[in-house]
Amino acid sequence: MERRRVLVAVSGGIAAYKVPELIRCLVRAGHTVRCVVTDAASHFVSPLVLQALCGSPVRSQLFDASEESEIDHVALADWADIVVLAPATANTLARLANGLADDLVSTTLLATRAPLLAAPAMNVNMWRHPATRENVGRLRDRGVRFIGPESGALACGWEGEGRMSEPETIAAEIELCLGPRSLTSTRVVVTAGGTREPIDSVRALTNRSSGKMGFAIAAEAARRGAETVLVAGPSALSTPQSVRRVDVETALEMREAVLAEMPTASVLVMAAAVADFRPSKPATTKIRKEDLGDSAPVIELVRNPDILAEICAQPRDGRIVVGFAAEDRDVLETARRKLARKGCDLLVANDVSRTDGGFDSDRNAVIFVRPGGEAEELPLLAKAEVAARLWDLIEKLRGSSA
Ligand code: C5P
Repeated sequence: MERRRVLVAVSGGIAAYKVPELIRCLVRAGHTVRCVVTDAASHFVSPLVLQALCGSPVRSQLFDASEESEIDHVALADWADIVVLAPATANTLARLANGLADDLVSTTLLATRAPLLAAPAMNVNMWRHPATRENVGRLRDRGVRFIGPESGALACGWEGEGRMSEPETIAAEIELCLGPRSLTSTRVVVTAGGTREPIDSVRALTNRSSGKMGFAIAAEAARRGAETVLVAGPSALSTPQSVRRVDVETALEMREAVLAEMPTASVLVMAAAVADFRPSKPATTKIRKEDLGDSAPVIELVRNPDILAEICAQPRDGRIVVGFAAEDRDVLETARRKLARKGCDLLVANDVSRTDGGFDSDRNAVIFVRPGGEAEELPLLAKAEVAARLWDLIEKLRGSSA
């Protein structure tokens, strides 16, 4: 098994007594483990025990001169291949769901771009409380994975759902989350977000893409070990771990960046919403109303090059090219025609007229369309899950064409 870096974040619940066993399982499996604990957690499990088992200092304080000099919390968040929150208390989940960062554990959880696995443990009524349900739902939508809680006798005397999963079960789930390194020695280019086409020095034509789908696809490729380049239109999203990001603004810049990366790439996923048209002669300074009198400017548009079609027209040399289609009607038929027109190996179609997914949402409902028209419709899923299903399919296509 490959040696990976696992950061165990411990919040304050009685189930923290199982964490030493979890660390032992992880160390036995060959992983490097580090541990951060909340103040409350250190009442339930001795940091000295955790420290002895993982072989490196256990940290709990955000502001500690000696600790920070050794490794700051952002470095710790960046260090991890995966972060495991065990036990995940109702309070820690609520703080993460709301983006609070007021101690070392919450700050690390917010700062990391590594996948996060949470193993909740709490009283059954707390687990079932609408506030907790809502927080868990939000975290799931953001790609946090959950293991448990399991049913049984709870430390508080109640029976029901709320027991933290057993250490061996959590350790097995961590292996699943770390995933097969199935894309090592594969170079992947993913585009994401919308392009922005200048009208003048302050205005632009753009579209409603948030970039979340493309970022999730790049994150999943990197997680599977691919050398991943993300060519991104303007976006405030943070760059996924182990991904090289190339920021672009216009369709022409995106084309240039993609073409420069293509010669050594084995897979291209064009998830970006590239503007089809751009103002033919953007003004270099701001168009002022006072200079126009009562009239409005007439903006002439020209077609942008179709990056996807251009790449599909080149010799493929075993490369897989995936396109996207955001449609608001006749989704499947339009997608089939688009795939035939562009000539890609797979088209991911989504219905942007739905209100429960798509633009700016953390979820998406997509249809995978293959040349010949074969289609696989997926249910509404977190974008991270859609990304995982997409790479499963791409890997299958690569396997069958090898
Ligand atoms: O033609 P349409 O814009 O609907 O096609 C969408 C697909 O084509 C997406 O994969 C998008 O990234 C790509 N595309 C492109 N260059 C364009 C327009 C779209 O590569 N100018």
